[in-house]
Amino acid sequence: KDDLVVLGIETSCDDTAAAVVRGNGEILSQVVSSQGDLLAQYGGVAPKMAEEAHSQVIDQVVQEALDKANLTARNLSAVAVTIGPGLSLCLRVGVRKARKIAGSFNVPIVGIHHMEAHALVARLSERQLQFPFMALLISGGHNLLILAHDLGHYIQLGTTIDDAIGEAYDKTAKWLGLDMRTGGGPALEELAREGDAESVRFSTPMKQHRDCNFSYAGLKTQVRLAIESKNINAEIPISSASSQDRRSRADIAASFQQVAVLHLEERCDRAIEWARKIEPSIKHLVVSGGVASNQYVRARLDHVVKKNSLQLVCPPPKLCTDNGAMVAWTGIEHFCMGRFDPPPPADEPEDYM
Ligand code: KG4
Ligand code: ZN
Repeated sequence: KDDLVVLGIETSCDDTAAAVVRGNGEILSQVVSSQGDLLAQYGGVAPKMAEEAHSQVIDQVVQEALDKANLTARNLSAVAVTIGPGLSLCLRVGVRKARKIAGSFNVPIVGIHHMEAHALVARLSERQLQFPFMALLISGGHNLLILAHDLGHYIQLGTTIDDAIGEAYDKTAKWLGLDMRTGGGPALEELAREGDAESVRFSTPMKQHRDCNFSYAGLKTQVRLAIESKNINAEIPISSASSQDRRSRADIAASFQQVAVLHLEERCDRAIEWARKIEPSIKHLVVSGGVASNQYVRARLDHVVKKNSLQLVCPPPKLCTDNGAMVAWTGIEHFCMGRFDPPPPADEPEDYM
Protein backbone atom coordinates (compact mmCIF):
# COMPACT_ATOMS: atom_id res chain seq x y z
CA LYS A 1 0.00 0.00 0.00
CA ASP A 2 2.79 2.45 0.87
CA ASP A 3 4.06 2.45 -2.73
CA LEU A 4 0.79 3.58 -4.26
CA VAL A 5 0.62 7.07 -5.74
CA VAL A 6 -2.85 8.36 -6.51
CA LEU A 7 -3.96 11.56 -8.20
CA GLY A 8 -7.23 12.99 -6.83
CA ILE A 9 -9.42 15.39 -8.82
CA GLU A 10 -12.28 17.41 -7.32
CA THR A 11 -14.63 19.71 -9.27
CA SER A 12 -18.03 19.14 -7.63
CA CYS A 13 -18.74 22.78 -6.75
CA ASP A 14 -16.69 25.94 -7.14
CA ASP A 15 -13.17 24.74 -6.37
CA THR A 16 -11.00 23.09 -8.99
CA ALA A 17 -8.65 20.91 -6.96
CA ALA A 18 -6.05 18.23 -7.58
CA ALA A 19 -3.54 16.50 -5.34
CA VAL A 20 -1.18 13.56 -5.33
CA VAL A 21 -1.12 11.37 -2.24
CA ARG A 22 1.05 8.36 -1.44
CA GLY A 23 -0.35 5.18 0.09
CA ASN A 24 1.51 5.92 3.34
CA GLY A 25 -0.48 9.14 3.72
CA GLU A 26 2.17 11.53 2.47
CA ILE A 27 0.62 14.44 0.55
CA LEU A 28 3.03 15.00 -2.34
CA SER A 29 1.17 17.99 -3.74
CA GLN A 30 -2.05 19.91 -3.31
CA VAL A 31 -3.42 22.55 -5.69
CA VAL A 32 -6.72 24.44 -5.41
CA SER A 33 -8.05 27.08 -7.75
CA SER A 34 -11.10 28.87 -6.29
CA GLN A 35 -13.77 30.83 -8.07
CA GLY A 36 -13.82 33.55 -5.42
CA ASP A 37 -14.39 36.43 -7.82
CA LEU A 38 -17.32 34.69 -9.47
CA LEU A 39 -18.79 33.92 -6.03
CA ALA A 40 -18.52 37.55 -5.01
CA GLN A 41 -20.00 38.78 -8.27
CA TYR A 42 -23.03 36.47 -8.30
CA GLY A 43 -23.46 35.89 -4.57
CA GLY A 44 -23.47 32.13 -5.14
CA VAL A 45 -22.48 29.42 -7.57
CA ALA A 46 -23.98 29.61 -11.08
CA PRO A 47 -23.52 26.12 -12.59
CA LYS A 48 -22.83 27.13 -16.19
CA MET A 49 -20.30 29.74 -15.19
CA ALA A 50 -18.70 27.43 -12.65
CA GLU A 51 -18.36 24.77 -15.37
CA GLU A 52 -16.56 27.23 -17.64
CA ALA A 53 -14.25 28.30 -14.84
CA HIS A 54 -13.37 24.64 -14.11
CA SER A 55 -12.75 23.95 -17.81
CA GLN A 56 -10.39 26.90 -18.04
CA VAL A 57 -8.12 25.78 -15.22
CA ILE A 58 -8.45 22.00 -14.94
CA ASP A 59 -5.48 21.09 -17.19
CA GLN A 60 -3.24 23.56 -15.41
CA VAL A 61 -4.34 22.50 -11.90
CA VAL A 62 -3.72 18.82 -12.62
CA GLN A 63 -0.39 19.51 -14.32
CA GLU A 64 0.74 21.61 -11.37
CA ALA A 65 -0.23 18.84 -8.94
CA LEU A 66 1.85 16.32 -10.93
CA ASP A 67 4.79 18.73 -11.31
CA LYS A 68 4.87 19.60 -7.63
CA ALA A 69 4.88 15.88 -6.81
CA ASN A 70 7.74 15.42 -9.29
CA LEU A 71 5.74 12.86 -11.23
CA THR A 72 4.31 12.28 -14.65
CA ALA A 73 0.94 10.63 -15.13
CA ARG A 74 2.62 7.35 -16.13
CA ASN A 75 3.90 6.96 -12.53
CA LEU A 76 0.37 6.92 -11.10
CA SER A 77 -1.19 3.82 -9.56
CA ALA A 78 -4.70 5.20 -10.08
CA VAL A 79 -6.70 8.35 -10.71
CA ALA A 80 -9.46 9.11 -8.21
CA VAL A 81 -12.19 11.57 -9.11
CA THR A 82 -15.32 12.92 -7.42
CA ILE A 83 -18.39 11.60 -9.24
CA GLY A 84 -21.03 13.09 -6.92
CA PRO A 85 -22.91 14.58 -5.23
CA GLY A 86 -22.41 18.00 -6.79
CA LEU A 87 -23.25 20.13 -9.80
CA SER A 88 -23.38 17.71 -12.73
CA LEU A 89 -21.93 20.20 -15.22
CA CYS A 90 -18.98 20.75 -12.90
CA LEU A 91 -18.48 17.09 -11.98
CA ARG A 92 -18.19 16.26 -15.68
CA VAL A 93 -15.17 18.50 -16.12
CA GLY A 94 -13.27 16.52 -13.49
CA VAL A 95 -14.47 13.13 -14.68
CA ARG A 96 -13.56 13.90 -18.30
CA LYS A 97 -10.06 14.93 -17.25
CA ALA A 98 -9.64 11.86 -15.04
CA ARG A 99 -10.75 9.51 -17.84
CA LYS A 100 -8.44 11.20 -20.30
CA ILE A 101 -5.40 10.72 -18.08
CA ALA A 102 -6.39 7.23 -17.01
CA GLY A 103 -7.03 6.21 -20.64
CA SER A 104 -3.82 7.74 -22.01
CA PHE A 105 -1.59 6.22 -19.34
CA ASN A 106 -3.50 2.99 -18.80
CA VAL A 107 -4.17 3.44 -15.09
CA PRO A 108 -7.30 2.41 -13.17
CA ILE A 109 -9.88 4.94 -12.14
CA VAL A 110 -11.71 5.22 -8.81
CA GLY A 111 -15.04 7.09 -8.60
CA ILE A 112 -15.42 8.91 -5.29
CA HIS A 113 -18.41 10.10 -3.27
CA HIS A 114 -17.68 13.67 -2.20
CA MET A 115 -19.07 13.28 1.34
CA GLU A 116 -17.26 10.00 1.93
CA ALA A 117 -14.06 11.84 1.01
CA HIS A 118 -14.84 14.59 3.55
CA ALA A 119 -15.21 11.88 6.21
CA LEU A 120 -12.29 9.63 5.27
CA VAL A 121 -9.77 12.46 4.99
CA ALA A 122 -9.72 12.27 8.78
CA ARG A 123 -7.91 8.92 8.42
CA LEU A 124 -5.28 10.74 6.35
CA SER A 125 -4.73 13.54 8.86
CA GLU A 126 -5.03 11.20 11.85
CA ARG A 127 -3.41 7.97 10.74
CA GLN A 128 -4.39 6.18 13.96
CA LEU A 129 -8.12 6.68 13.37
CA GLN A 130 -9.81 3.29 13.06
CA PHE A 131 -13.35 2.29 12.16
CA PRO A 132 -15.91 2.55 13.65
CA PHE A 133 -16.19 6.29 14.21
CA MET A 134 -18.84 8.98 14.00
CA ALA A 135 -18.66 11.91 11.60
CA LEU A 136 -20.37 15.27 11.41
CA LEU A 137 -19.96 16.59 7.87
CA ILE A 138 -20.75 20.26 7.49
CA SER A 139 -20.37 22.06 4.20
CA GLY A 140 -22.15 24.38 1.80
CA GLY A 141 -24.47 21.72 0.45
CA HIS A 142 -24.64 19.07 3.18
CA ASN A 143 -25.18 18.50 6.88
CA LEU A 144 -24.67 14.87 7.72
CA LEU A 145 -24.25 12.87 10.89
CA ILE A 146 -23.04 9.36 10.17
CA LEU A 147 -21.77 6.30 11.90
CA ALA A 148 -18.89 4.94 9.82
CA HIS A 149 -18.80 1.21 10.55
CA ASP A 150 -16.26 0.31 7.96
CA LEU A 151 -15.08 1.38 4.51
CA GLY A 152 -18.23 1.79 2.39
CA HIS A 153 -20.51 0.90 5.30
CA TYR A 154 -22.16 4.00 6.74
CA ILE A 155 -25.30 4.56 8.78
CA GLN A 156 -26.93 7.96 8.43
CA LEU A 157 -28.03 9.28 11.82
CA GLY A 158 -29.15 12.69 10.63
CA THR A 159 -29.26 15.02 7.65
CA THR A 160 -30.66 18.43 6.86
CA ILE A 161 -34.33 18.74 6.00
CA ASP A 162 -33.65 21.97 4.09
CA ASP A 163 -30.43 24.01 3.97
CA ALA A 164 -26.94 23.12 5.14
CA ILE A 165 -25.12 25.23 7.71
CA GLY A 166 -22.59 26.52 5.14
CA GLU A 167 -25.46 27.87 3.06
CA ALA A 168 -26.77 29.73 6.13
CA TYR A 169 -23.30 31.19 6.78
CA ASP A 170 -22.98 32.26 3.15
CA LYS A 171 -26.40 33.94 2.96
CA THR A 172 -25.93 35.69 6.32
CA ALA A 173 -22.53 36.93 5.16
CA LYS A 174 -24.01 38.21 1.92
CA TRP A 175 -26.84 40.05 3.70
CA LEU A 176 -24.33 41.60 6.11
CA GLY A 177 -22.34 42.99 3.18
CA LEU A 178 -19.27 40.83 3.84
CA ASP A 179 -16.55 39.92 1.38
CA MET A 180 -17.83 36.81 -0.40
CA ARG A 181 -14.63 35.96 -2.23
CA THR A 182 -13.70 33.39 0.39
CA GLY A 183 -17.19 31.88 0.46
CA GLY A 184 -18.72 34.03 3.20
CA GLY A 185 -18.08 31.66 6.10
CA PRO A 186 -14.57 32.83 7.00
CA ALA A 187 -15.58 36.53 6.81
CA LEU A 188 -18.56 35.89 9.05
CA GLU A 189 -16.43 34.00 11.58
CA GLU A 190 -14.08 36.97 11.77
CA LEU A 191 -16.83 39.58 12.17
CA ALA A 192 -18.59 37.49 14.82
CA ARG A 193 -15.52 37.89 17.07
CA GLU A 194 -16.38 41.60 17.46
CA GLY A 195 -20.05 41.01 18.25
CA ASP A 196 -22.20 40.25 21.27
CA ALA A 197 -23.77 36.81 20.76
CA GLU A 198 -26.54 37.57 23.26
CA SER A 199 -27.69 40.76 21.56
CA VAL A 200 -30.16 39.20 19.12
CA ARG A 201 -32.35 36.30 20.28
CA PHE A 202 -32.66 33.70 17.54
CA SER A 203 -34.48 30.51 18.40
CA THR A 204 -32.62 27.20 18.04
CA PRO A 205 -33.98 25.12 15.15
CA MET A 206 -35.97 21.89 15.68
CA LYS A 207 -35.96 22.04 19.48
CA GLN A 208 -39.17 20.00 19.60
CA HIS A 209 -37.87 17.28 17.24
CA ARG A 210 -36.11 14.59 19.22
CA ASP A 211 -34.01 13.37 16.31
CA CYS A 212 -30.62 14.09 14.77
CA ASN A 213 -31.77 16.02 11.72
CA PHE A 214 -30.91 19.62 10.94
CA SER A 215 -32.74 22.64 9.61
CA TYR A 216 -31.26 26.01 8.72
CA ALA A 217 -33.95 27.58 6.52
CA GLY A 218 -35.91 28.98 9.50
CA LEU A 219 -32.77 30.46 11.07
CA LYS A 220 -31.95 32.09 7.73
CA THR A 221 -35.37 33.75 7.75
CA GLN A 222 -34.92 34.93 11.34
CA VAL A 223 -31.57 36.45 10.39
CA ARG A 224 -33.00 38.17 7.32
CA LEU A 225 -35.78 39.73 9.40
CA ALA A 226 -33.31 40.92 12.03
CA ILE A 227 -31.15 42.49 9.33
CA GLU A 228 -34.16 44.25 7.82
CA SER A 229 -35.32 45.53 11.20
CA LYS A 230 -31.90 47.08 11.82
CA ASN A 231 -31.90 48.71 8.39
CA ILE A 232 -28.66 47.06 7.38
CA ASN A 233 -27.92 47.61 3.73
CA ALA A 234 -25.92 44.81 2.09
CA GLU A 235 -25.11 47.17 -0.79
CA ILE A 236 -22.88 49.07 1.63
CA PRO A 237 -19.86 46.82 2.16
CA ILE A 238 -18.84 46.34 5.77
CA SER A 239 -15.59 48.16 5.05
CA SER A 240 -17.58 51.37 4.40
CA ALA A 241 -20.08 50.96 7.26
CA SER A 242 -20.20 53.45 10.15
CA SER A 243 -18.92 52.13 13.47
CA GLN A 244 -22.45 51.79 14.84
CA ASP A 245 -23.60 49.98 11.69
CA ARG A 246 -20.56 47.72 11.90
CA ARG A 247 -21.36 46.90 15.52
CA SER A 248 -24.94 45.92 14.76
CA ARG A 249 -23.73 43.71 11.88
CA ALA A 250 -21.18 42.08 14.19
CA ASP A 251 -23.88 41.47 16.80
CA ILE A 252 -26.06 39.69 14.25
CA ALA A 253 -23.08 37.67 13.02
CA ALA A 254 -22.20 36.55 16.56
CA SER A 255 -25.81 35.79 17.50
CA PHE A 256 -26.35 33.82 14.29
CA GLN A 257 -23.16 31.83 14.76
CA GLN A 258 -23.96 30.97 18.35
CA VAL A 259 -27.37 29.50 17.47
CA ALA A 260 -26.21 27.84 14.24
CA VAL A 261 -23.52 26.01 16.18
CA LEU A 262 -25.73 25.29 19.19
CA HIS A 263 -27.94 23.35 16.76
CA LEU A 264 -24.89 21.26 15.78
CA GLU A 265 -24.01 20.71 19.44
CA GLU A 266 -27.49 19.49 20.36
CA ARG A 267 -27.67 17.11 17.40
CA CYS A 268 -24.19 15.70 18.05
CA ASP A 269 -25.02 15.13 21.68
CA ARG A 270 -28.04 13.05 20.75
CA ALA A 271 -26.27 11.30 17.87
CA ILE A 272 -23.52 10.11 20.22
CA GLU A 273 -26.18 8.56 22.42
CA TRP A 274 -27.77 6.85 19.40
CA ALA A 275 -24.48 5.68 17.93
CA ARG A 276 -23.43 4.12 21.21
CA LYS A 277 -26.53 1.93 21.17
CA ILE A 278 -25.47 0.57 17.78
CA GLU A 279 -21.72 0.57 18.34
CA PRO A 280 -20.71 0.91 22.01
CA SER A 281 -16.99 0.97 21.15
CA ILE A 282 -17.13 4.37 19.41
CA LYS A 283 -14.21 6.59 20.47
CA HIS A 284 -14.07 9.42 17.93
CA LEU A 285 -16.21 12.10 16.38
CA VAL A 286 -14.79 13.39 13.11
CA VAL A 287 -15.84 16.91 12.12
CA SER A 288 -15.07 17.77 8.52
CA GLY A 289 -16.32 19.78 5.52
CA GLY A 290 -15.75 23.49 4.87
CA VAL A 291 -17.53 24.75 8.00
CA ALA A 292 -15.28 22.53 10.15
CA SER A 293 -12.43 24.95 9.44
CA ASN A 294 -14.23 27.43 11.73
CA GLN A 295 -12.44 27.81 15.08
CA TYR A 296 -15.60 28.56 17.05
CA VAL A 297 -17.29 25.44 15.62
CA ARG A 298 -14.27 23.35 16.58
CA ALA A 299 -14.13 24.69 20.12
CA ARG A 300 -17.85 24.18 20.78
CA LEU A 301 -17.86 20.65 19.38
CA ASP A 302 -14.74 19.77 21.30
CA HIS A 303 -16.69 20.60 24.42
CA VAL A 304 -19.58 18.28 23.47
CA VAL A 305 -17.23 15.48 22.54
CA LYS A 306 -15.22 15.72 25.78
CA LYS A 307 -18.40 15.81 27.85
CA ASN A 308 -19.26 12.46 26.25
CA SER A 309 -15.75 11.06 26.85
CA LEU A 310 -14.96 10.90 23.14
CA GLN A 311 -12.17 12.46 21.12
CA LEU A 312 -12.64 15.08 18.42
CA VAL A 313 -10.83 14.55 15.13
CA CYS A 314 -10.82 17.66 13.01
CA PRO A 315 -8.59 17.66 9.90
CA PRO A 316 -6.55 20.83 9.29
CA PRO A 317 -8.59 23.56 7.53
CA LYS A 318 -6.96 22.90 4.14
CA LEU A 319 -8.25 19.34 4.26
CA CYS A 320 -11.70 20.35 5.58
CA THR A 321 -12.63 22.60 2.65
CA ASP A 322 -12.92 20.98 -0.77
CA ASN A 323 -9.56 19.61 -1.88
CA GLY A 324 -7.96 16.97 -4.06
CA ALA A 325 -6.12 15.17 -1.25
CA MET A 326 -9.34 13.90 0.32
CA VAL A 327 -10.33 12.43 -3.06
CA ALA A 328 -6.90 10.87 -3.64
CA TRP A 329 -6.89 9.39 -0.13
CA THR A 330 -10.40 7.94 -0.44
CA GLY A 331 -9.22 6.52 -3.77
CA ILE A 332 -6.33 4.82 -1.97
CA GLU A 333 -8.67 3.34 0.63
CA HIS A 334 -10.96 1.87 -2.07
CA PHE A 335 -8.12 0.82 -4.36
CA CYS A 336 -6.60 -1.23 -1.54
CA MET A 337 -9.90 -3.09 -1.18
CA GLY A 338 -9.95 -3.84 -4.91
CA ARG A 339 -12.67 -1.33 -5.65
CA PHE A 340 -11.76 0.46 -8.86
CA ASP A 341 -12.61 0.55 -12.56
CA PRO A 342 -10.27 -0.59 -15.33
CA PRO A 343 -8.58 2.10 -17.44
CA PRO A 344 -10.90 3.63 -20.03
CA PRO A 345 -9.98 3.03 -23.72
CA ALA A 346 -7.08 5.26 -24.79
CA ASP A 347 -9.05 6.51 -27.79
CA GLU A 348 -12.24 7.35 -25.88
CA PRO A 349 -13.75 10.42 -27.58
CA GLU A 350 -13.71 13.69 -25.60
CA ASP A 351 -17.48 14.02 -25.90
CA TYR A 352 -18.04 10.50 -24.52
CA MET A 353 -19.96 12.08 -21.66
O1 KG4 B 1 -16.82 21.51 1.94
P1 KG4 B 1 -16.83 22.81 1.23
O2 KG4 B 1 -15.50 23.44 0.87
O3 KG4 B 1 -17.67 22.72 -0.08
C1 KG4 B 1 -18.87 22.00 -0.15
O4 KG4 B 1 -18.81 20.75 -0.26
O5 KG4 B 1 -19.93 22.66 -0.02
O6 KG4 B 1 -17.67 23.84 2.13
C2 KG4 B 1 -17.90 25.14 1.71
C3 KG4 B 1 -18.69 25.85 2.76
C4 KG4 B 1 -19.12 27.25 2.37
O7 KG4 B 1 -20.47 27.43 2.71
C5 KG4 B 1 -18.21 28.13 3.21
O8 KG4 B 1 -18.76 29.40 3.52
C6 KG4 B 1 -18.06 27.29 4.44
O9 KG4 B 1 -17.90 25.99 3.96
N1 KG4 B 1 -16.91 27.70 5.24
C7 KG4 B 1 -17.01 28.22 6.48
C8 KG4 B 1 -15.70 28.54 6.90
N2 KG4 B 1 -14.84 28.19 5.89
C9 KG4 B 1 -15.61 27.67 4.89
N3 KG4 B 1 -18.08 28.44 7.26
C10 KG4 B 1 -17.87 28.98 8.47
N4 KG4 B 1 -16.66 29.33 8.93
C11 KG4 B 1 -15.54 29.14 8.19
N5 KG4 B 1 -14.35 29.49 8.65
ZN1 ZN C 1 -17.35 19.66 0.14
